Amino acid sequence: MRSDAVTRSDAIREAVDAARWAPSVHNTQPWSFAVAGEEISVRADSDRRLRVSDPAGRQMLISGGASLFTLRTMVRCKGYEPEVLVLPDPDRPALLAIVRVGGRVTPDEYVLRLGGEIRVRRTHRAGFTTLPVPGRTIEALVQQAGAEGALLTPVEHPRAIEVLSALTTAAQALQSVDRRFTLELVRWAAPPGSPRGDGVPAGGYPDTPPRTEPAFAQRDYGGAHGWGAPTDQRMSTSPGVVALLTTSGDSRREWVAAGQALQRVLLHASGYGISAAFHTQALELPPMRELLRTELCAGRFPQMIMRLGITFDDGAGTRRALPEVLEVRDQGL
Ligand SMILES: Cc1cc2nc3c(=O)[nH]c(=O)nc-3n(C[C@H](O)[C@H](O)[C@H](O)COP(=O)(O)O)c2cc1C
Repeated sequence: MRSDAVTRSDAIREAVDAARWAPSVHNTQPWSFAVAGEEISVRADSDRRLRVSDPAGRQMLISGGASLFTLRTMVRCKGYEPEVLVLPDPDRPALLAIVRVGGRVTPDEYVLRLGGEIRVRRTHRAGFTTLPVPGRTIEALVQQAGAEGALLTPVEHPRAIEVLSALTTAAQALQSVDRRFTLELVRWAAPPGSPRGDGVPAGGYPDTPPRTEPAFAQRDYGGAHGWGAPTDQRMSTSPGVVALLTTSGDSRREWVAAGQALQRVLLHASGYGISAAFHTQALELPPMRELLRTELCAGRFPQMIMRLGITFDDGAGTRRALPEVLEVRDQGL
């Protein structure tokens, strides 16, 4: 496709359409987009914030940051330079970014590859195959995160992996006996066959995932219903590469940066057939997050706990339709 084949208004529409496919906590999709002329406003939708697990909106802004990176990537894929202002107005905290669709550029192979992964990438929720993730790919992922201002650290020491496993299990157990957490989770778990465009679909996780070794507790979206897709028996008990995404501070700006870094890492990984599983339960309990910060993250702020590995096939994905998230303020589109 020649870059000049796409008009600015088509580029804007396709970029917003793609941005919907970013990952978000419980698939809340806590974002909306407004287009005026050549500018796209990316806004956090605090009605979709998780009141119990995410009172400060940290995960909401990480999700918004992931969506912003996706938007930027697709603007570039369509042959325009995205000019981004992050959190441009202190009086409008919900305004995460303004992206101006600038001059024409020729997208390089790399950005086109990232763009091609936006709809392919899926969250994995089980063990991985035993196929190894090459060390040089991990190094490249570390570089990708660094380019967005976050640090991705593969956790190598078996004891450190055990600590992460234990904290995840403990956090999951604590949340499972706390009615406020369980009610919130239930609200974002979509039943099989649901027409909903948000929440975690029953096809997005296996019904009986084998425990990884060490175990990394999965969110219990299926609950007592036994929902979930038939478990792919080709998956092993391998947890894959355990990794932490951290930032030097813990401001709203750093949360957006963490989200941009996350999506950059995920799209790059996806291009190499590598998927990610997330386990953020321990980060939702402040004493555990603080413990992780001081003991495993050298004082940096943990924003994401994840595992990376190779799968054969990941579950289903779902999103709200474009008109539900896009507001057009002029006749340009
Ligand atoms: C900040 C954040 C936290 C997340 N935490 C978890 C988690 O603890 N467990 C999990 O299974 N998925 C987690 N996810 C993944 C989302 O559930 C997933 O992105 C969403 O359901 C959309 O599905 P998709 O990534 O397959 O498109 C998280 C995603 C984000 C952005």
